[in-house]
Amino acid sequence: MTTTTATATTTQAPQVPGQRKRILTGDRPTGELHLGHYVGSLANRVRLQDEYDCYFIIADLHTLTTRPEKSYIRELPDNIRKVTLDYLSVGIDPERSTIYVQSMVPEVYQLNLFFEMLVTVPRLARLPSLKDMARAAHIEQMPFGLLGYPVLQAADILLPKAHLVPVGKDNLAHVEITREIARRFNYLYGEVFPIPEAMLGEVPTLPGIDGQKKMSKSLGNAIFLSDDPKTVEQKVMRMYTDPTRIHATDPGHVRGNPVFIYHDIFNPNKEEVEDLKRRYRRGQVGDVEVKRKLAAALNAFLEPIRQRRALFETRPGYVEEILREGTQRMRQIGAETLAEVREAMGLNYPLFRA
Ligand code: TRP
Repeated sequence: MTTTTATATTTQAPQVPGQRKRILTGDRPTGELHLGHYVGSLANRVRLQDEYDCYFIIADLHTLTTRPEKSYIRELPDNIRKVTLDYLSVGIDPERSTIYVQSMVPEVYQLNLFFEMLVTVPRLARLPSLKDMARAAHIEQMPFGLLGYPVLQAADILLPKAHLVPVGKDNLAHVEITREIARRFNYLYGEVFPIPEAMLGEVPTLPGIDGQKKMSKSLGNAIFLSDDPKTVEQKVMRMYTDPTRIHATDPGHVRGNPVFIYHDIFNPNKEEVEDLKRRYRRGQVGDVEVKRKLAAALNAFLEPIRQRRALFETRPGYVEEILREGTQRMRQIGAETLAEVREAMGLNYPLFRA
């Protein structure tokens, strides 16, 4: 008897969709995605598509937390399209993965409301990420919705009961809040949610081309996945390097130099990179050569992405179809989770049951 049970539990369950672990992550539709997004999270998403059931949310409601004006909302459809094209271009496969639009899945906001009861205001008010977002948007008083940003993110993550959340460093604290909410829910109402783990990319924070700590569209220091070869070259040629180096014959600093940070990440020719570093340290190579080689490496990296984009861009209605299908799939999963949530909470009153 015991033997049979032991055997049964060690037998590997077949990896059919629905039984695999789930990934949820996503982006606010604020425009094109850049190299920072790629190394921070997109690369992990593409890599893990076979192993996990993947859900990618285009978080338009999150943009409202700092930008509720209609003029910004008007830009959302175009930005949603751009982000979707970026996803498809880097190799996210809509046959295997679900891409959907947050505001089209009302189950997200229903779960958000339940979760609002499970976290305190001081816990949220302490988060530096929210203060940073408020400051960047020139908001003086914290709106209720911005304070709730991480709670809404928890609803995104837990609606499909995700186990893994590939994100950049700036989102780690929000995944931590998600874990706290999941634990609190399970404690109060019974085990419904897994406790999700964050997964950082190989390069959690990519510096900008201006040498600032973080590549960001709003800082104007980004190389976009959709930049053409000429633009990439121009951006690289004006990149910030070692400010202490005036002449090509001055010995230069490699460590912390964004040009070499990018070389390390994007140039697959390790010999070339090591040779450039050696000569740079000795003052035997000019910035121009180092940058030309970087631009070539970046353009080689971006070329297949550009080619896929060109393909998808010309198929009329394709992006819209992907989003419609993905959103429908997510609504279904969301409805299942919500039914379970209401049941666990005792909110499924007999009064209205048939
Ligand atoms: N907060 C993420 C950002 O910085 C976007 C986002 C919204 C997200 N919901 C999410 C990321 C769920 C991971 C999981 O833009």
